[in-house]
Amino acid sequence: MLAGTIIVAGVPGVGKTTVLQELEAAGQQRNVPLRIVNFGDVMNHLFKTTGKQLHRDHMRRQHISQQTKIQQQAARKIAKMSGRSSLVVDTHMFVRTSDGIWPGTPRRVLEALHPSLIVLIEAGPDEVAKRRMMDNTRERGNETLEDAKADLEWSRYMASANAVLAGIPIQIVSNSEGRQHQAAKDLLRLIEKLN
Ligand code: AP5
Repeated sequence: MLAGTIIVAGVPGVGKTTVLQELEAAGQQRNVPLRIVNFGDVMNHLFKTTGKQLHRDHMRRQHISQQTKIQQQAARKIAKMSGRSSLVVDTHMFVRTSDGIWPGTPRRVLEALHPSLIVLIEAGPDEVAKRRMMDNTRERGNETLEDAKADLEWSRYMASANAVLAGIPIQIVSNSEGRQHQAAKDLLRLIEKLN
């Protein structure tokens, strides 16, 4: 049976990449075939093919028309990766661009990916703000508590719009302090239920 596509989104710094690393290990342990793809990596590679070698935190500062073009190409490329494993797409419900709050999975992206489920990885706004502040390997910006609160709200608004457009459910997985392993287990359970 073909497995589905799951969109896993979370505000920058919530720890979704950490949880997805744990998910990979948990999936291997339980013999659940998974293919985890980071949308930002695919976009970064596509930017490179246009001659733009960009830091991943600088992609959102590019002209919106170029980001839109690369976003759609990335979605089509990722869609081709689906197969017998569950395809887990690590992405964002929205991106803070120079032009404003911009959807990470607008209709054309959803149509290409054809997901069965949206999972939001969440943590408390205080935890998100702290993780952003402590991680000096990145240029995420928006490090205040108020920024984290606003981002978590935007993520849910955008997820609601996506769920309505695609007619699919939303699940929320909590990645609270030190609980990344449990978060991955919770996420794996949701994926297993789809198969
Ligand atoms: P992306 O790579 O997804 O960037 P990001 O959101 O900054 O994601 P990260 O993976 O860096 O952060 P994270 O939330 O996963 O946190 P982490 O695990 O590192 O995207 C890059 C760019 O790609 C975007 O800005 C955008 O431009 C573009 N893009 C992506 N999707 C797009 C789309 N659909 N359309 C258009 N553009 C798109 O953890 C952070 C810290 O917290 C770490 O130090 C970690 O150790 C710690 N931590 C994690 N979990 C816990 C825990 N439970 N307890 C304690 N500490 C924890």
